[in-house]
Amino acid sequence: MTMPLEGRTALITGASRGIGRATAIAMARAGARVAVLARDRDALAKLVIDLGGPQAATPIPCDVTDAGQVGNAVETAIESLGALDVVVNNAGGCRFTTPFETMRPSGWQSTTRLNLDSVMHVCQAVSEHLIERGSGSVINMASAVAITSMKDMTHYVAAKAAVIGFTKSLALEWAAHGIRVNCMSPGWTATDMTSVEMRDPDRRKEIAAQVPLGRWASPQEMAAPAVFLASDAASYITGHNLVVDGGLTL
Ligand SMILES: NC(=O)c1ccc[n+]([C@@H]2O[C@H](COP(=O)([O-])OP(=O)(O)OC[C@H]3O[C@@H](n4cnc5c(N)ncnc54)[C@H](OP(=O)(O)O)[C@@H]3O)[C@@H](O)[C@H]2O)c1
Repeated sequence: MTMPLEGRTALITGASRGIGRATAIAMARAGARVAVLARDRDALAKLVIDLGGPQAATPIPCDVTDAGQVGNAVETAIESLGALDVVVNNAGGCRFTTPFETMRPSGWQSTTRLNLDSVMHVCQAVSEHLIERGSGSVINMASAVAITSMKDMTHYVAAKAAVIGFTKSLALEWAAHGIRVNCMSPGWTATDMTSVEMRDPDRRKEIAAQVPLGRWASPQEMAAPAVFLASDAASYITGHNLVVDGGLTL
């Protein structure tokens, strides 16, 4: 049986852990050679070993909030992989919660820089390459909270909601170039980002009880839909926000 990403190449940001790491592994298992980006060099080096070495994966240390670093990283990825078919803008997170009235502008800005500006930097850096090739699949990581709400997280929710709007508009612009642009909205997924909630047994159970499927997701359950969106099985899907939340937003 042919693997869904056989012969393809993929760049994945935030691949040092969590959903990004699981996505890199799933895409590699699906046949893609991958370029993995994050700041943690050691974690990237370990991932490359786990994936079978430098012929399978290229580690590229990069802070995605820095446009210059992103430009260099994309250049390195194209050089190393030959071309880019798939781009996963996964790096992101929410480093603090606060009532809106006590939000400091610096906290707002660092959150939008990490979750929104980073997506813009990567998409701009790959634009010429993808347009020239007349193909590509871009997947941006939004969040289920972006289509509902979350108390004390206006900064994060606003940034992720913007990612959904950005995705739809870019999908419209790039459709004529043969490039698909989609996003995913994960629900509660067990990663470092949610470790505070996971470590508190009551909160962990309370969250699971809010989810119609009755449990948290594993990072692998986000990786499989990402492989689908990247593959030809999703060849007629663009501008879509794939909600992967166990029914949380129903
Ligand atoms: N977990 C959830 O429940 C959940 C729900 C909805 C949406 N999401 C979204 O899904 C994505 C992945 O989340 P996760 O749960 O896997 O989080 P995670 O385990 O905390 O991983 C975050 C990843 O982003 C990378 N990253 C953070 N800041 C970066 C920067 N400035 N430059 C480059 N890479 C950076 C981290 O690598 P380094 O630290 O090595 O740089 C890490 O690989 C995020 O966009 C998150 O907002 C998660």
